[in-house]
Amino acid sequence: MCGIIGYIGSNVESNLYLGLERLEYRGYDSSGMTIKRNNDFTTYKATGVVEKLKSTIKENEEFGIGIAHTRWATHGQISIENCHPHFSSNGSTALVHNGIIENYEELKDDLIKKGKYFYGQTDSEVIAKLFDCKLDINNLRRVKKKLVGSYALAIISKNSDYIYFAKNKSPLYIALGSECALIASDPSCFVGFADGYITLEDGEYGKFSQKEVIIYDKNDKIVKKQPQKLDFSFINEEKSGYQHFMLKEIYQSRLALEKIMEVYRSYDIKEKLKELKNYEFDRIYLIGCGTAYHAGLIGGSYMREAFNIDVFCEIASEIMYKNLNIDEKSLCIFISQSGETADTLAALEYCKSRGGIIVAVTNTEYSSIARKASINFPICAGQEKAVASTKAYFAQCIVLYILTSYLKGNDYILPLYNFKRQIDFGDDNILKTLAEKLAGYDKVFFIGRGRDYITAQEASLKLKEITYIFSTAQPSGELKHGVIALIDKSVPVIVIATDENLFNKTLNNAYEIKARGGKLVLFTTLNTDSETEKAFDYIIKVKKPEKDFMPLQIILSLQKLAYFTAVTKGYDPDKPRNLAKSVTVE
Ligand code: F6R
Repeated sequence: MCGIIGYIGSNVESNLYLGLERLEYRGYDSSGMTIKRNNDFTTYKATGVVEKLKSTIKENEEFGIGIAHTRWATHGQISIENCHPHFSSNGSTALVHNGIIENYEELKDDLIKKGKYFYGQTDSEVIAKLFDCKLDINNLRRVKKKLVGSYALAIISKNSDYIYFAKNKSPLYIALGSECALIASDPSCFVGFADGYITLEDGEYGKFSQKEVIIYDKNDKIVKKQPQKLDFSFINEEKSGYQHFMLKEIYQSRLALEKIMEVYRSYDIKEKLKELKNYEFDRIYLIGCGTAYHAGLIGGSYMREAFNIDVFCEIASEIMYKNLNIDEKSLCIFISQSGETADTLAALEYCKSRGGIIVAVTNTEYSSIARKASINFPICAGQEKAVASTKAYFAQCIVLYILTSYLKGNDYILPLYNFKRQIDFGDDNILKTLAEKLAGYDKVFFIGRGRDYITAQEASLKLKEITYIFSTAQPSGELKHGVIALIDKSVPVIVIATDENLFNKTLNNAYEIKARGGKLVLFTTLNTDSETEKAFDYIIKVKKPEKDFMPLQIILSLQKLAYFTAVTKGYDPDKPRNLAKSVTVE
């Protein structure tokens, strides 16, 4: 993970800080920046969230050249020593790095033998120590050849007016504005500074100043690249009156649906859908991680109902160990909000190497996954700032619904239009009261059948990642095969029941829990009778949409339940511990 930014222009400190705020979703264990002015460096570092850095910074309007970094710790603890930028032994070169250097131990041993001293434990410091020489293209090329692994690097020297860079596997973009030049892990850093940006490909390296960008490809040939237009619509910097981005983003699910309905009527998308239909395939794989994998499970359930072919849903980090039958007749759909998830990217390369048809469903059209796919279907959710994915999950499911409907030859606009009118975010008062109760427990179970079991998995993930309460999801029918041994009065069980045909069976499983003293909560779109109402301690009822949209309707209240529980416990739901929004390490 980690985010890097470099800036050449005036007000370097404040502009780098703005960039770090925009990149904070990539990690918030520590942050730092180094600025070069008058052939000297000034450095600021702080552990913890980016805001901690602010009080250390002395603003300076003068022209300068700077690099900055926000860290998600991989090698080495969270400490000032391990905080970027890192420095060469002679102190004249500073660099920031996103990625993992796989051969860093070997390189480090070699450098130690040569008498180099290491102040920290990171793999990134090893790269810095390889720069005890003049910073120029030849030396960058020489160092780059020694590195095995992933890297996005921005490097400055006390004696140069350029920022040097190199990219392999980790994302990196450059923008030239009218008064400044920037490099960053995410083009959202360029908003307000430039109208366009250049996407760097693996193996590329070079240098840039305020006036020019010089890029070499992986064969050391100079390449000319045309900037692409920066799309301003993805920026999401204000909480707009909400206490947290997470709550704002849950409510933005409706906006995402509206945007999808608009975009999926356009000529461009219609052409992409036609292209998809033209492929000949006899198997479908839906692949993602975490929440995106759960969206794949929902999409898979649509496709399995619609088509008479095998549909498999796979966790990206596991797919290569399963010896699956992936070939040129396999439609492989990669689902990723960020489009940069390393596990999903690795799975994509694996499926591509076996001849699979590669299609992406992403929220970031400039991302690596979107670019590596033959077709990318945007989910139009707008930038997600909170680490826990909410509106993106909703939008991913909608786009997978559209792909299914289109391939089946069904209209998708009218059902979506009807659903939009029925969206129900649940009753805040009941959800808050329930959250206050849940906050007092140290474990929570979720159960459901069919699609409700998928929702149970997503709801359980949301709760555990932002409240740190242990939670697990079980298929209702599976409880009695072992897990019911854990049920007693200290365990609340959240029952998700939106399928009329499965309601009674699920209720019977709920009664089995009740008989063993477990506390019961029902999340449903269905009508309940007095006997059911007596059995449950809480019932959250939301409007009943068309069957295919039940999981999307019910997840909104479950996302809010996780949110209110985190807030009750005094945690920041936007920045849960140990997590980052873009998981760019395998
Ligand atoms: C959970 C969450 C993660 C992501 C997962 C994949 O709330 O956000 O589980 O869904 O890390 O990320 P993307 O979708 O960016 O590939």
